[in-house]
Amino acid sequence: MVDGFGRAAALALLEEWTASDSLRKHGMAVSICTEAYGRREAERFGLSGAEAEAFAEPYACAGLLHDMDYERYPSLEEHPFIGVGHLRELGWPEPVLHAILAHADYSGTARESHLDKALFACDELAGFLTACALVKPTKSIHDVEVAGVKKKMKDKAFARAVKREDIIGGAELLGIPLEEHLGNCLKAMQEWAGELGLDGVVIQQAD
Ligand SMILES: [Fe+2]
Repeated sequence: MVDGFGRAAALALLEEWTASDSLRKHGMAVSICTEAYGRREAERFGLSGAEAEAFAEPYACAGLLHDMDYERYPSLEEHPFIGVGHLRELGWPEPVLHAILAHADYSGTARESHLDKALFACDELAGFLTACALVKPTKSIHDVEVAGVKKKMKDKAFARAVKREDIIGGAELLGIPLEEHLGNCLKAMQEWAGELGLDGVVIQQAD
């Protein structure tokens, strides 16, 4: 990716625009999951090392930046259009901007590229997996399993704001079974549990 438009710059922008810790963590979780799909796609193309890293970078950046403007401009008229406008002025690459626009159903931007599809597929799921971790006594993502996630998806009262149809539709867009999608994102978030604040709490034993 072009210099100055990598993960570090994306994270700095997310932090500049977003004060909420949970919204920052959401951006990071979506970034981690979306980047995992970028790495898989790079592998499919036979890339490795620095080439694979560079291929996956726009995926990571789109994840970090997709809700960048949400805290300041949450309305449907503004989000994600204001953020994308700002990023375009800064010179961020169009594929990243396209994916950010396409993650919003109402934007009129179709999900065309693999990056567009991956970002959409990971957005709701990253939030859902975070919710699954936070209801564990340990609050650890390491205690979350795919079977449990599938069960919770059927429980309408649990994390009711998360659109199950977007998680299911995301797997379809990527052309993989739902279970594989859940497993891919869960594994990615487990690998970065510390950064996401989901590596668990110490449970105090009663005397
Ligand atoms: Fe999001």
